[in-house]
Amino acid sequence: MEITLVFFLKPDAVVRRYAGARSLRMLMDGVSDLEFLCFESIKPDRDFLADQHYAVHKGKFFFDWLVGYVASGQILVSIIRTTKEGVYKIREVLGPTFPEKAEIEAPNTIRARYGIMAGVNIAHASDAIETAKEESSMWIPYLKEKLGVDVNEANPRVIEDRIEGYISTYIDYPMVDPIRYRELLRSVMEDPSRRLEVEAKITKLLSLETDKEFIMSGYTGELAKIIVESVLLRRK
Ligand code: RTP
Ligand code: MG
Repeated sequence: MEITLVFFLKPDAVVRRYAGARSLRMLMDGVSDLEFLCFESIKPDRDFLADQHYAVHKGKFFFDWLVGYVASGQILVSIIRTTKEGVYKIREVLGPTFPEKAEIEAPNTIRARYGIMAGVNIAHASDAIETAKEESSMWIPYLKEKLGVDVNEANPRVIEDRIEGYISTYIDYPMVDPIRYRELLRSVMEDPSRRLEVEAKITKLLSLETDKEFIMSGYTGELAKIIVESVLLRRK
């Protein structure tokens, strides 16, 4: 049985160049039977995320934060054709939702190794056969409308070459150990009055992992606020 599913690198994995490249490497090396039908950079519309992709989470305490996080910057989206087993294998390689839990429960997963903390967790992947179908049926027309990309005409070999090119561009970038982010975030959870100081430190750490464009545009600062907000959410 062939399934198409949606996988995307979230903004933290696009900004943190090595983390994104290494996550793609782990996905491609860790799961066989993947055919990539697109690999596109897009800044998704809030409405599309709120009313379609993340509509299942409407009403949850993290919903507004989640939509704001994923809509805040560029993401890299793939539609992947695979088997039923492939859908679950991708989720296994990705790991548990929260990186700090993944670190303990499944340390060799993408989120454990490269994710920051709480909801800031590198990537999305459809989590079951039904959701894969639903999400594909939202994203395929969306990518067509926004970017003119028709996945039905895709040549998976060409797309895999593009992904390999992306990986080789960024695989030798420096990475800040996610443990350092987690330390800072734990300190702000204990003492929320440290918020501005921790946001500034995280902005600096992000700037070590990324390109000038993200620093100059101020996006590293914006993302730092989103990261801190994610760990403070539950306290409200
Ligand atoms: P995803 O959909 O992104 O692949 O992640 P998932 O299945 O592992 O997790 P899900 O329950 O579907 O939640 C979607 C995303 O919402 C954010 N989240 N934050 N702060 C929080 O407590 C919280 N809970 C969920 C995460 O970004 C999660 O991936
Ligand atoms: Mg999910």
